[in-house]
Amino acid sequence: MDNSGVATLVKEAVDIVDVIGQVVPLRRNGNRHLGLCPFHQEKTPSFHVDAQNQFYYCFGCGSGGDVLSFVMKYRNLAFGDALRYLAERYNILLPEKEHNRPGHGGPADAARKERHRLYGVLRIAADYFYEQLHHSPAGLEARDYIARRRLPPEVVEAQRLGFAPPRWDGLLQHLRGRGVDLELGLKAGLLARSSRDTARLYDRFRNRLIFPITDDHNRIIAFGGRVLAADSHDEPKYLNSPETPVYHKGRTLYQLARAREACRQVRQVVLVEGYMDLLAFHSHGFFRVVATLGTALTPYQVRLLARMSDEVVLAYDGDEAGEKAMLRALPLFLQEEVDVRSVTFPAGEDPDDFLRAHGIAGFERLLDRRQDLGTYAICKILEGWDGSTGGKLRILTELQTVLAHVRRPLPRSEYIRLVCDRLSLSEELVRRELDYDRRRNPTYVSVSAAGALPKVDEVSSLEEKILRVLIKYPALIEEVKGSEAPAYFEQSTLKTIIQALMRLPATPGGSADLSIVYDALQDTDARELFARLLMESCELSEPEVHLKDWLEALTLREKKQKRADLDEALRQAVKNGDSERVKDILAKIQGLSSAGRRVRDLPDNL
Ligand code: GTP
Ligand code: MN
Repeated sequence: MDNSGVATLVKEAVDIVDVIGQVVPLRRNGNRHLGLCPFHQEKTPSFHVDAQNQFYYCFGCGSGGDVLSFVMKYRNLAFGDALRYLAERYNILLPEKEHNRPGHGGPADAARKERHRLYGVLRIAADYFYEQLHHSPAGLEARDYIARRRLPPEVVEAQRLGFAPPRWDGLLQHLRGRGVDLELGLKAGLLARSSRDTARLYDRFRNRLIFPITDDHNRIIAFGGRVLAADSHDEPKYLNSPETPVYHKGRTLYQLARAREACRQVRQVVLVEGYMDLLAFHSHGFFRVVATLGTALTPYQVRLLARMSDEVVLAYDGDEAGEKAMLRALPLFLQEEVDVRSVTFPAGEDPDDFLRAHGIAGFERLLDRRQDLGTYAICKILEGWDGSTGGKLRILTELQTVLAHVRRPLPRSEYIRLVCDRLSLSEELVRRELDYDRRRNPTYVSVSAAGALPKVDEVSSLEEKILRVLIKYPALIEEVKGSEAPAYFEQSTLKTIIQALMRLPATPGGSADLSIVYDALQDTDARELFARLLMESCELSEPEVHLKDWLEALTLREKKQKRADLDEALRQAVKNGDSERVKDILAKIQGLSSAGRRVRDLPDNL
């Protein structure tokens, strides 16, 4: 396979939003994502990433391209190294030649080797914790604890739960005995360095029940550890591995792979906050569930969930903290346009308590009564209305904290209708009030307004307009192929692009793959311009009508140009008294005007 084949392979396997999102905080706006450009200094975001077409473009500095050109530019890598870098990160198996070239020792290669070693060390540690739980005297207390929490043996086994004994150097000695470089143990987050004596390393996890955390390939990437004592005064109840080259908290969810399997039948996933809550579900034979790992939910995690399910049901603790956490998560789901519902447990109960008391049948009943989280949040805010007119305004402003994130028209209009009913206001008035608020308070608009793109008709040439409509509606490309207009493009980069578009093979249904066009463009200028046009192309009503007009106008412009040239040549010929030439030119002029009578009527500003 050649490099471009490999590039296609890599580009198909990665999502540009994921790749860029790791280094540039992005906010979603429909299919576009917006952030501060990493390639130049800016205070307001003009850096756009297009999820659908997998391109990025910065309106501030003009850099743009596909995921590979981003990685090349951002990481300062050559093309081949950018390929390997992405392949590495996303576990894409490259053909031998590219991947494992003997003697190749680039930075991506070194990182891959290190991660490989880290997986090995983590595996050794997991086996050690497992042994300690089942076969050490110290493990007895942990086994008792497991029994008290009523975790069935099959769950303990399936998750390979373990126990870290109450020693400072239990794992450390074990690793040393296995000939493991302790620096690697440190890097894996298993050991920590003493702050007083920096030469000294010690076990991070001590006297804790251990929950191994695995990735999609069932490799252990981290651990969570819970204290055994019910009252753990000076120790945190849970301790998690720190971020390491193989573990990124914000990109991981506990039991994600297992849940993904279970979601194949029912595309709905339950999200809980605790390890124990999750395992309680497993104990009851329910696997469509994931848990966050002691950190706030991230957009990345929401996207992971959206990929495997059509609906996420939050099942957080039935207390104030749980409710707060659910409401905090709401904007993320709204922004990612993911359906989110919630169930409410009886006061003070967490999922673990609830399942113990009511079983999975009880939970299924709760699930049947799950509520749209946006509606829940809005009702909650409406409950705060004191009945006064001034109160209505305050409530409307508060509602913006939810509504500002709702972009989809249907839920938005349902939410607004709910508000109108409860506050006895007309829909028109509520919409106006919300708009007013929005204009006055820019924080509310940040997503939509900053994401607004220049309108098509502003400052763009005829040639650009034609390209934009073709890029937006590739089905129209076929119609242009018969036209002579592409030959009349004058701006050279635009001409390169239209020629590339014309070479695009016809596809049934017109769902052209624009990345082919992008790949066909050789020079950076053309690629960047292409990315910009892609970002600027917006919906048009009746695109084919516009296109026809523009093509016609371009043809007319060409003819007008030719006519002007001929007029000039005629003047010269008359001046020179060259009657043969005069006759010749007059014939040409004649031909031109019969082909396009409107030439003389053309406006001058074309
Ligand atoms: P149990 O209390 O044993 O039933 O566990 P739980 O999972 O229900 O814990 P809890 O509801 O207290 O907390 C929910 C989740 O928040 C836990 O599973 C952890 O991921 C996280 N968490 C709780 N306490 C701590 C802590 O002290 N430190 C960290 N880093 N995370 C915590
Ligand atoms: Mn809990």
